[in-house]
Amino acid sequence: MAHIPAVTKAVIPAAGLGTRFLPATKAVPKEMLPIIDTPTIQLVVEEAVAAGLTDVLMITARGKTAIEDHFDRNLDLEEVLTAKGDEAGLASITASNRMAAMHFVRQGKALGLGHAVLCAAEHVGDEPFAVLLGDDFIDARDPLLKRMLEVRQQYGGSIVALMEVDPEQVSAYGVATIKPTDADDVVAVTDLVEKPAVNEAPSNWIVVGRYVCDPAIFDVLRDTPPGRGGEIQLTDALRTLARTDRAYGANRVNGVNGANGAAADGGGVHGVLFRGRRYDTGKKLEYLQTLIQFACERPDVAPEFVPWLRSYLDSLSPAPSR
Ligand code: G1P
Repeated sequence: MAHIPAVTKAVIPAAGLGTRFLPATKAVPKEMLPIIDTPTIQLVVEEAVAAGLTDVLMITARGKTAIEDHFDRNLDLEEVLTAKGDEAGLASITASNRMAAMHFVRQGKALGLGHAVLCAAEHVGDEPFAVLLGDDFIDARDPLLKRMLEVRQQYGGSIVALMEVDPEQVSAYGVATIKPTDADDVVAVTDLVEKPAVNEAPSNWIVVGRYVCDPAIFDVLRDTPPGRGGEIQLTDALRTLARTDRAYGANRVNGVNGANGAAADGGGVHGVLFRGRRYDTGKKLEYLQTLIQFACERPDVAPEFVPWLRSYLDSLSPAPSR
């Protein structure tokens, strides 16, 4: 039986400029914007670690050194907090440097998400790997990545996470053409298109920022020309793999998983249909919504915050007419 290697590495592209959050992101990486007190990038790394991944490679760029500092030790702070006997504070600052083996590589030029992922080729080598985009994160209670890793184990190839959205929202995302499989939450992806016009979208199942990629993606990315926005798109490389699987369907490796087996060339794309909670912190409105939601749910702030929020909202609403 063909051996499908387990996934241990996560690649987190974090090289984007963050223009949606200017001026805050003029000097501070957008990935460091906090949800209450935790940078969004830490929540993304926690997601990778919770799925069992132990090695994290971040693709950063000029101006992103705060991210590296965040995942490094801060001995001055450790000393001060130790002297004060502040154990909770100490635990909060050491958590981020103990989570996983952290590695960083820079994307010299902003040539697109596909190019950012290609920057991981040397570190990743010939192994499947997860990609987690830093602009959104998935609720810890809805373990999407863990499910995607199981699906990769079963089907091989590459796995994308798909969510159903209102048709008018599709043009902000990669969109998939899908076919059902025997599993309720798994589909075969036969085609993908990056940010199509609403009337040209093949479905309203969008690719959210979680992927498990077969290492075959690297060779495909090397041959992928700039696409939407003049950038090298990860979606376009996955499209090639999705289509290759169809073209070479006869070459499927038998024994890996029967009729749904991985393609012999490492191709093939499946989708996990996700119906859980996703927070899109890359957009202003949704970032605010995430903050409020977390504040309402966190035991350390909710007891004071929720009553305050209620009375604040009451103070906004017009007095009921008599
Ligand atoms: C990227 C991908 C897109 C995907 C989206 C998910 O787009 O290119 O296919 O649907 O992330 O958030 P971006 O949001 O970086 O423009």
